[in-house]
Amino acid sequence: MSCTIKKDLLSEGKTKKIYITNNPLEVLIHHKDCLTALDGVKKNFLQDKGILNNEITTLIFQFLNSCGIQTHFIRKINNREQLCHRVNIIPIEFVVRNIVAGSMSKRLGVKEGISLSSPIFEIFYKNDKLKDPLINDHHAVFLEIISYEELSTIYNITSKINHIIKKFFLEKNIILVDFKIEFGKDYKNNILLSDEISPDTCRFWDKKTMKKLDKDPFRTGLKEKEEVFDIYMEILKRLNVS
Ligand code: TMP
Ligand code: ASP
Repeated sequence: MSCTIKKDLLSEGKTKKIYITNNPLEVLIHHKDCLTALDGVKKNFLQDKGILNNEITTLIFQFLNSCGIQTHFIRKINNREQLCHRVNIIPIEFVVRNIVAGSMSKRLGVKEGISLSSPIFEIFYKNDKLKDPLINDHHAVFLEIISYEELSTIYNITSKINHIIKKFFLEKNIILVDFKIEFGKDYKNNILLSDEISPDTCRFWDKKTMKKLDKDPFRTGLKEKEEVFDIYMEILKRLNVS
């Protein structure tokens, strides 16, 4: 295994920093101790939250890799950092919904909690100035951020990911309500699942109590950041029980 040398900061987002390394094809992703919601409107320092998210997303990506899904994840380097294939992120958030919640519930005036007979896919244009608007395939192709062929490939992969992780979480008594994923293209133009999968990017409900096991109660002001930390710990604990 070659030794990774962390070099300059490549980019910084709300919860992660990306560093270039001595290998031009690999980056180091650092998870910050930052809890944000509502597109950064709520922003809090939360001690050691980066450790939890780094560990949770590592476990999920390792599992997806083992199931044959091509991801950017190579290996965990330390508590807060992981080594990943360098990709150009496609500026689209792919959302999968198994149960009605969140923005879909508000936008369509339907009650949260209705199970969908088949998953609903939505795409959002990653653009801070425009506040990540909901778009459709034709808008995305018009914007020249993706082709119809790539969209079709990604919807296929996304559907597989949903099947795999829905079952994975259910075995841990966690209902996967919805989630957001992102994809990138490596130097050979391979499409890789990138970014992260964590309680920051998913809605989880406890199978027995239906209690929310994600940051939704923080988004709505029902819970303080410290309580969110305990919830994330609970998710990690369940993932570690096989
Ligand atoms: P939504 O109901 O707010 O559209 O969110 C759907 C799912 O996507 C939910 O699990 C949270 C996740 N998500 C993100 O990870 N980042 C975002 O910026 C948004 C809007 C949603
Ligand atoms: N908009 C997202 C959310 O509310 C992400 C964020 O602001 O961190 O979860």
